[in-house]
Amino acid sequence: MLEKYYRWLRFNIFYLGNPPWDTGVSPPELETFLDSADAGFALDVGCGTGTNLLTMAKEGWEVVGMDIAWLSVLKARRKLRAAGVDGRVIHGDITGGFRLEVSFNLVLDIGCYHSLNQGQRAHYRKNLANWLVPGGTYLIYAHQRTSPDVSHGISQDDFSAFTKFLDLLWRVDNDEKRPDGGGGFPASWAQFIRLDSMKPTH
Ligand SMILES: C[S@@+](CC[C@H](N)C(=O)[O-])C[C@H]1O[C@@H](n2cnc3c(N)ncnc32)[C@H](O)[C@@H]1O
Repeated sequence: MLEKYYRWLRFNIFYLGNPPWDTGVSPPELETFLDSADAGFALDVGCGTGTNLLTMAKEGWEVVGMDIAWLSVLKARRKLRAAGVDGRVIHGDITGGFRLEVSFNLVLDIGCYHSLNQGQRAHYRKNLANWLVPGGTYLIYAHQRTSPDVSHGISQDDFSAFTKFLDLLWRVDNDEKRPDGGGGFPASWAQFIRLDSMKPTH
């Protein structure tokens, strides 16, 4: 419980200013996906100030964003409103137990999963399985775990847990530490498809 408030506080403090990841530009990996896909319903988990919500909405997607930080939610709502596009931005914890009334063709995570602890990751994966339509896409960018002694970062165990209910289409690891928006961490991009027949196991 304390961890949750600490997380809420930490990210709100970041959004009092301009956090380093908040570049205002969508990454090419998302743009490439949008170029190749039919528009549908998209959920951006840990949506920050809504840059990627805006990009997707402009491509015809019905967008929902969710973030634990009130300030980023306010900024994201303002960004969508200023651009004159529709979209819903929910203040919430993506590891929580609440249900959304729609399922999504795309769930996007740029930089959220990698900071969760192990228990939160299991809840997240359960939610992800409920939120994605069969055949839906999960697109993730995450810092890699650089040592077994730290909790931050995505590991091979995480990829294995995802592939219990998702098919991995591709994964690209950038092993060098990039100073730009990558927080100095090596990082991975991956695209998964939700399998029809398999249920998540935890
Ligand atoms: C590194 S930032 C990336 C923000 C955005 N995706 C972007 O690319 O600009 C991670 C975001 O995840 C949010 N976040 C962290 N833990 C969360 C949780 N449990 N539920 C919802 N959002 C969370 C943070 O508030 C922050 O906005």
